[in-house]
Amino acid sequence: MQEKIKEILTKAKQRILDADSMQLINEIRVRFLGKNGEITALLKSLKDAPADQRPKLGKLINDLRGEVETILIEHEKNIAEREKQKKLKEERIDITLSKNNRKIGALHPLNKVIRDICYIFIGLGFEVKDGPEVELDYYNFEGLNIPADHPARDEQDTFYINDNILLRTQTSAVQVRTMEEQKPPIRIVCPGKVYRPDDDASHSPMFHQIEGLVVDENITLCDLQGLLDAFAQEFFSSVTKTRLRPSFFPFTEPSVEVDLSCVMCGGKGCSLCKGTGWIELLGAGVVNPRVLEYSGIDSKKYSGLAFGLGVERAAMIKYGIPDIRLFFENDIRFLKQYR
Ligand code: PHE
Repeated sequence: MQEKIKEILTKAKQRILDADSMQLINEIRVRFLGKNGEITALLKSLKDAPADQRPKLGKLINDLRGEVETILIEHEKNIAEREKQKKLKEERIDITLSKNNRKIGALHPLNKVIRDICYIFIGLGFEVKDGPEVELDYYNFEGLNIPADHPARDEQDTFYINDNILLRTQTSAVQVRTMEEQKPPIRIVCPGKVYRPDDDASHSPMFHQIEGLVVDENITLCDLQGLLDAFAQEFFSSVTKTRLRPSFFPFTEPSVEVDLSCVMCGGKGCSLCKGTGWIELLGAGVVNPRVLEYSGIDSKKYSGLAFGLGVERAAMIKYGIPDIRLFFENDIRFLKQYR
């Protein structure tokens, strides 16, 4: 029987060490230690051994059982650990992968500036209007008191489609369209694209304007300056001042150029304002009574103010952008800064 015990121990050890899965370990446990297992059978056969040897043999079998149990548990741990490592490896998630490789879009800085400006005027009771970019000569020129032979036409070189149709050179065209269809009081702003054949660091053949028009009783130049002051202080900075300089537009009388106190030096004089302390912002004026009459508005009862602001110009002043072409090259490095 002692032989048998040794044999079983060697066999069990070998099997256990060869086993490489939990399933095999379980099979081995049943085979040796189970109810019908080999070691259990040995214990049962003890009763056939000579009575004087039984205690010794019984101890040997118990030791055997203990040893097999220990090796099993030991090896079981190894296998469990190995299986865990294998699973971890197979089910590994690579958390080092960047989660943010989807690029997030944003409004183009010009659209952002257009929105910001329109919101300011909406807050002042204005309505936002739209008008066609391909426009009749009448709305772009004639209705604004710029007849065919008027020298002002030379100042705004124009892309013509035919004698009668053109790409609008100014959003002022929307003034005429609005006054034709709407009776006072009128308070509108109209953002949009305009076209002129110029191309350099401060001119682009396509650029954006925002037109403003107010028509009501007793509208004066003072209303214009008050309105533009409120706008400039909201859009540029609370300490910005405006200054009106005499100018000429056929559709306003009097006409003015509106300057801003320099946003960089506050008026002391710097490179941005070329030492003058002021920056030219937009053209404006009191609506010429002839323009009101052309559109069927009684100029004795009503008066108006109008202004036309260059969006690129406003954005360049506000953000210190040196070249208008940056807006249209769509270089991500430029656009990203205004997100
Ligand atoms: N339309 C003019 C321009 O493009 C600007 C302007 C608008 C001037 C309204 C006066 C009134 O230069």
